[in-house]
Amino acid sequence: MKRLELGGKYTLVTGASSGLGLELARLVAREHRGNLVLVARRQDRLEALAEELRREHKVEVQCLPADLTRPEDVTRVFEESTRGRRIHAAILNAGVSYFGPSLGLGFEDFEKLLATNVTSVFYLAQRFAAHLLEPDAGGGGGVMLVSSLAGTMPMTYQAAYGGTKAFLNGYGVALGQELGARGVGVTVFVPGGIATEMGQKSGTARKFKKGDMGMMDADECARVALGGFLARRRFVVPGALNQLSDFLLRFLPRTAAAAMTERIYRGALPPGT
Ligand SMILES: NC(=O)c1ccc[n+]([C@@H]2O[C@H](COP(=O)([O-])OP(=O)(O)OC[C@H]3O[C@@H](n4cnc5c(N)ncnc54)[C@H](OP(=O)(O)O)[C@@H]3O)[C@@H](O)[C@H]2O)c1
Repeated sequence: MKRLELGGKYTLVTGASSGLGLELARLVAREHRGNLVLVARRQDRLEALAEELRREHKVEVQCLPADLTRPEDVTRVFEESTRGRRIHAAILNAGVSYFGPSLGLGFEDFEKLLATNVTSVFYLAQRFAAHLLEPDAGGGGGVMLVSSLAGTMPMTYQAAYGGTKAFLNGYGVALGQELGARGVGVTVFVPGGIATEMGQKSGTARKFKKGDMGMMDADECARVALGGFLARRRFVVPGALNQLSDFLLRFLPRTAAAAMTERIYRGALPPGT
């Protein structure tokens, strides 16, 4: 398959209001002169980013505020983003996490985790893949799913979050197998820790800070993600340490991996947990 080209075409990025998604959108505009559709709940942040990208890089940007836990918003994201234009690349990056004792995750919050990290990603991946396969799509488009190393091992204190990302790892690589021969690339991006709002919100930032072993900056991580996406790589793990743990964990029994993640994450629990 030819390299993915984003210049002058539209890329949709979910979760573009902060962290990795915001840096991915900046890279698409700055280094590829790609047009963008930006999706997240915080409209003010999307508008500020859109203004920056139009001013500095002269690209076209549409903001599509949406709550991806709501099925009607997820449908609207596909329909409005493709109305009167072709989307050439879809970066499905929005995600939320839960960190803490598993029994502290209530059913309603679990459903939101599942809707954001799995159901909306599945729906949008299916719709955008079909859109990219249409005869007038021109061929050569791509979909990137932002997953996590948490999906490659049993994640004590992030058990449900890890489960959502395990779905993306399996689904994304298999979908790529089916679509590759038809000219549509699927990349699963599998980072370890990234210094973003996610760690602040979930509490893992209590222990893991920027500069700690394996923690990456969002812009550095975005660069690796986009490089892998453009090169049509199927499963991209950024950073030498993350690659090493991805490799070594294949040989560790799952129960030993669960004990290891318990030791690593116990220190990030709130005092008294
Ligand atoms: N940070 C890490 O250590 C880490 C590690 C591995 C993988 N990842 C993955 O990387 C991706 C990006 O995370 P990040 O680290 O950049 O975190 P972040 O800064 O918290 O960004 C998450 C993005 O998702 C959006 N989002 C969350 N819930 C949403 C909803 N219901 N509807 C629409 N948008 C929603 C947020 O926007 P709004 O709040 O404005 O809606 C935000 O733009 C996620 O899939 C995450 O699982 C992160």
